[in-house]
Amino acid sequence: MKKVFFVTIGVLVFVFITAGLVSADGGPHGGYTATTDACAGCHRAHTASGPNLLIEATTYDLCISCHGSVGTGADSNVLDGVWLEGRNPTDTTGDANTTDNANLLGGGFVNYGGSAVTSIHDADDSTAAAWGNGVNRGVAAALTDGNLTCASCHDPHGSNNYRIIKETINGNPVNVAQVDEGAAKDYDTEQWNTGTSAFCSACHDAYHRTNAGQGSTLDAGTYTHRIDMSYSYGGNANPETVGMGGYTLPLAETDMVVCMTCHLPHGTSATMTGWAAGTYDPFGANPPGPIPSGDSALLRLGNRGVCEVCHQK
Ligand code: HEC
Ligand code: HEC
Ligand code: HEC
Ligand code: HEC
Ligand code: HEC
Ligand code: HEC
Repeated sequence: MKKVFFVTIGVLVFVFITAGLVSADGGPHGGYTATTDACAGCHRAHTASGPNLLIEATTYDLCISCHGSVGTGADSNVLDGVWLEGRNPTDTTGDANTTDNANLLGGGFVNYGGSAVTSIHDADDSTAAAWGNGVNRGVAAALTDGNLTCASCHDPHGSNNYRIIKETINGNPVNVAQVDEGAAKDYDTEQWNTGTSAFCSACHDAYHRTNAGQGSTLDAGTYTHRIDMSYSYGGNANPETVGMGGYTLPLAETDMVVCMTCHLPHGTSATMTGWAAGTYDPFGANPPGPIPSGDSALLRLGNRGVCEVCHQK
């Protein structure tokens, strides 16, 4: 009996360590040991340059010192939205599965797909309020977490969520599952799953409406496109995810339409003209939306290309 007991303990310990390795977050983010050197990559105890004892003046500057256009701290260059294989020669996270020069899945903050961005989540300490944050769609209210930074969405110390997305955002619990990525990581294939829309709605809750027929039945804050249903559900007569012109849109498992099916989280270079440009308002009293003229509202495709992928009218 005693021997069996020890074997069982051994197995439990082994499973625990393996699980820790599989959920490793990549780079200096999380999975720290009791004697880790990682803290010193971002913090100084007595000679810091910014709040939270950071070695750069702001959280944004710190993130960009590794994830920016210059430097060698990380392969992912989020400013230009591109993977630079081997730029950080000592960290192999993502190297095996990500194609050199692939467009990053989050979009870009300055350029994306080689073109200047037309809308972003301004993560450089923006004081801007968030639409539908405890108020109706089309109306904005300030975040309770403070200014918008990279750390409004990501936890630099790692998390149990996909892409170290924070477990509490703007006071709301967030749980973004991932499909099958494992520790090797793949930065050019979407692997997010359920909980993706709830992540966005942590700051834009009024947009997260899941009942059938939302576009036909008024709820508080006017009619809105349904979210979190199958792309081939009900009134959608032309269920396609490879649409006109061969464009595709990503879905969560299984075939679920989420916020990120239409939107990118960092920034997009999609261009908006005519009816699709925010302030185009031929009817005066009933403006089509709060977004400024030409602003692309973080949409994945130009004009209303996203609509035609699924509806093909
Ligand atoms: C990749 C960079 C990075 C690493 C590595 C890192 N931190 Fe941080 N840490 C940050 C940033 C950025 C903030 C501020 C977050 C914000 O702006 O809200 C922060 C905030 C903190 C805070 C205050 C807020 C909180 O979360 O409690 C503590 C304490 C902290 N870090 C401790 C540590 C320790 C200890 C280590 C090493 C085990 C470590 N950090 C490693 C980037 C890092
Ligand atoms: C509004 C929330 C939000 C903000 C703000 C944000 N991110 Fe992200 N980020 C995401 C999401 C969601 C993903 C996952 C994208 C996917 O896999 O489809 C992501 C992915 C990433 C990745 C993986 C590469 C990629 O593009 O998929 C890196 C690196 C990253 N973010 C760094 C940053 C840095 C640095 C900042 C600040 C300059 C930042 N993020 C600001 C939500 C955010
Ligand atoms: C010292 C360099 C360094 C700093 C500073 C740093 N990162 Fe990273 N980060 C990395 C490396 C290396 C990876 C692994 C992927 C790669 O090479 O791009 C990574 C990966 C990530 C990922 C993907 C995690 C996953 O689960 O796949 C996100 C998101 C991210 N970082 C966000 C941030 C944010 C936000 C900040 C600022 C608070 C930050 N990083 C600061 C080096 C850094
Ligand atoms: C990823 C696929 C997808 C995309 C992209 C998409 N739709 Fe839909 N749409 C659907 C599905 C599925 C339904 C059916 C929902 C239901 O019956 O509850 C629907 C329903 C509708 C309806 C009927 C509303 C109702 O509740 O009766 C309209 C109108 C509509 N969509 C317009 C649009 C427009 C405009 C766009 C672009 C901004 C768009 N859709 C983008 C899948 C999509
Ligand atoms: C079917 C595609 C589609 C989906 C899914 C979608 N959006 Fe949008 N979103 C749009 C379009 C198109 C616009 C541009 C303005 C418009 O047509 O209402 C937009 C605009 C916005 C805006 C800018 C403010 C405004 O009202 O114009 C916010 C914020 C927003 N969406 C948040 C979300 C969130 C949060 C989710 C998920 C709960 C989501 N969206 C899901 C297509 C979509
Ligand atoms: C931490 C809070 C937070 C989260 C999480 C968040 N947003 Fe936002 N979002 C904001 C704020 C603040 C703004 C306005 C300021 C800005 O654009 O920088 C904004 C702006 C937007 C806009 C309008 C951008 C423009 O310039 O037209 C869209 C669209 C949007 N968010 C969609 C989303 C989607 C989709 C998600 C999930 C992938 C998401 N947001 C997650 C806080 C958040």
